Amino acid sequence: MTEEMARARRLVGEAGRIVVLTGAGISAESGVPTFRGAGGLWKSHRSEELATPEAFARDPQTVWEWYSWRRGLIADCAPNRGHLALARLALGDTPTTIVTQNVDGLHTRAAHEAAGSAEPSPALPVEVHGAIDRDKCSACGARTPGTTSVDTSSHDSLPRCAACDGMLRPDVVWFGEALEPEILSRAFQVAQDADLCLVVGTSALVQPAASVPLATLQEGGLLIVVDLERTPLSGEAEVSLLGPAGELLPELLDVEPPT
Ligand code: APR
Repeated sequence: MTEEMARARRLVGEAGRIVVLTGAGISAESGVPTFRGAGGLWKSHRSEELATPEAFARDPQTVWEWYSWRRGLIADCAPNRGHLALARLALGDTPTTIVTQNVDGLHTRAAHEAAGSAEPSPALPVEVHGAIDRDKCSACGARTPGTTSVDTSSHDSLPRCAACDGMLRPDVVWFGEALEPEILSRAFQVAQDADLCLVVGTSALVQPAASVPLATLQEGGLLIVVDLERTPLSGEAEVSLLGPAGELLPELLDVEPPT
C-alpha cells in the first residue's frame, strides 16, 4: 500500500461524517463516457454544444438523438466496484451522503445492490444534475419516466407531454440552467456538516457543483481527491489519489464484501 493510500485510509477511519461528490469518472469503468477528455465527444459534438436549452430549441431532434443514445448505453451498463464501495460506505456506521453530478442512475442501482434486502436509502445519491431516465415537460414541468426508444425520425415524432402536449425533454440540468434550489441546498448543507469530503472522478469545472467540496473546507473539514488526473481541487486536498476509482475506492474504503 502506498503512503498516500495509508494516510487517506486513516482520514476515512477518523471521519465522523463524510460527504462524497462524484462526477463522470466514477462511471467511466462501467462504460459510460465522460464529458471531457478522451471519449468526450459524440458525432463530433461537444457536450457543452448539445446540453443547452438553446440547442434543444434549435434542434431538438439532434439533442434527443444524443440522449436516446446515452440512455441506451447506460441501460446496458452496471455499477462498478467504485459505486459499490461508496454504497457500502454509506450503508455502514459513518454517516455518509453521496452527492453526484451524474445522471446515469448507477449510484442508485449500487445502493439497491449493496443493501440487498436492507434499506438502501442511506446510499441513495443527491442527484444535483437530474436523472437521464426521466422526462420533464418543457412547458408544464410534469415529470414522467423516460423511454430508451425515442423516435427521433422527425420533429413530429418526438415525445410530447400527456397532460399539456408540450415538448418533453430529458430531466437533466443543462448548461445555463439553474439547479433545483432544494437539491442544491441539501448538497451544500451535507458538505458543510461533513468533516471529510471525498471527491471522485470530476474535473471540477462545472459550477455550482464543483464548489460543494469548498463548503466542507470552509467549515474546517478535509478533502481527498480520487481521479485519474490532478484536478483544480487537488491543490486543496489533504491527499490526492491518482488512478481508476474502481480500483482505488475499494482499497480506500475497505468495504469489499467477503469473498
Ligand atoms: N477513475 C477516476 N477518475 C476518472 C476515471 C476513472 N476511471 N476516468 C476519468 N476520470 C476523471 C477525469 O480525469 C476527469 O477529471 O473523471 C473526470 C471526468 O470529468 P468530466 O468529464 O468533466 O465530468 P464531470 O466533472 O462529471 O462533469 C461535470 O459537466 O457536462 C456537464 O452536467 C455534466 O455533470 C456533468 C458536469
